[in-house]
Amino acid sequence: MSKIIIEGNHELTGKINISGAKNSTLALIPAAILCDDEVTITNVPEISDTKAMEEILTYLGAKLKEEKGIITIDPKNIESKEIPEEISRKLRASYYFMSALLSKYKNACMYFPGGCSIGSRPIDQTLKGYRALGATVIEEGNKYTVFADKLIGAEIYLDMPSVGATVNTLLVAVKAEGITTINNAAKEPEIVNIATFLNNMGANIKGAGTSIIKIEGVKNLHKASIEVIPDRIEAGTYMIVAALLGKDLIIENIIPEHVESLILKLKESGVKINVNRDHCVINKGDYLKSIKIKTLGFPGFPTDLQQPLATFLTQCNGVSTIEETLYENRFKNLEQLEKMGSKVKVDVKKGYITGPTPLKGKVVEATDLRGGACLVIAGLIAEGTTTIENAEHILRGYSNIVEKLQEVGAKIKIEQ
Ligand code: EPZ
Repeated sequence: MSKIIIEGNHELTGKINISGAKNSTLALIPAAILCDDEVTITNVPEISDTKAMEEILTYLGAKLKEEKGIITIDPKNIESKEIPEEISRKLRASYYFMSALLSKYKNACMYFPGGCSIGSRPIDQTLKGYRALGATVIEEGNKYTVFADKLIGAEIYLDMPSVGATVNTLLVAVKAEGITTINNAAKEPEIVNIATFLNNMGANIKGAGTSIIKIEGVKNLHKASIEVIPDRIEAGTYMIVAALLGKDLIIENIIPEHVESLILKLKESGVKINVNRDHCVINKGDYLKSIKIKTLGFPGFPTDLQQPLATFLTQCNGVSTIEETLYENRFKNLEQLEKMGSKVKVDVKKGYITGPTPLKGKVVEATDLRGGACLVIAGLIAEGTTTIENAEHILRGYSNIVEKLQEVGAKIKIEQ
């Protein structure tokens, strides 16, 4: 088990460069299967989730070349075979392979996907999309077998703008006969990145990034490449660090529109942020006002930043609230913050944080990826030394987090 150890309360200055987006990469890799030729993905983040997806790709028979953030995938020898439970359970995005295999080989078999334990996270909307496109879905406990003689375009309405269901339906519809319309689709920037990749391969997708996506199926997809967009959640996490400890701290390689909701909320609290085309400069706020947060799909405030922001709210004057509308169990990090001295209260889907409270270094536990990021920020501002156990959770989605923070002056290290 890895541990991250932090000596807190050091001012941070310099530059932090943002890596490629985890939640794009995890969909771009399975999308490669759909191609009849080699594809190249650039700006790939060095995180353990990328490795887990590459493991599935290789298991299915693809050839992979990797060099400094560039992966080249040759899918020619892939065969559709059952993806074992232990691999399926490694991460949520594993089920994107089920869609890609169904789309190309008209059959697939795997187990309920894994991922952060932040709620029940059902996949009913994905299965609804499969059935609407003409596939048969057999559910045996947590095992799913899907197959179809033919996939035919359809009108699909998602009960909620699910990122995963939008990606899965896109992956199947691109090779289905005729036109598919996804209504109430997710509008996240990662969806646009995936649709761009598929269109670069010769797909016919319109409306990605809006709530209505139209796809006209094509027979074949050809050689193509795509660059992974910057990770807006990684960027947001470091912007929160800067708002607490920054001295002209530069967060570079960002797309400001992708973190707009966070920028506005930090400004509402009194943080000075200088936003430029592809970077921002942040100085720590002197007097932080309490704020209210309600998580929503993009362009609303991202649920993936509510946990990192919780630490910031412990330093705000007054009672801040977080209303979590997507997941029913995403406040476990508040229990750990309480150990460090913060005043928190949870009421079902609402968290209340009273500040400002000084935090004290303690031994705490990362319970999931963004909960872990919350504790890294807490350790950076706490008095004394903080030890974060189960740091593997954090390494799943933050590329070189220890090195990036050391470079701007943090006293942080990792022990394997
Ligand atoms: C993606 O998860 C991200 N993961 C999550 O990031 C992120 O929190 C989430 O989108 C929302 O932005 C990846 O991209 C790999 P959803 P996903 O389907 O696709 C319910 C991180 O920290 N729902 O949009 O699983 C579901 O339970 C991770 O990087 C159904 O009820 O999210 C949830 O409450 C954590 N039925 C809500 O919708 C379904 O079929 C949003 O889920 C699908 C979803």
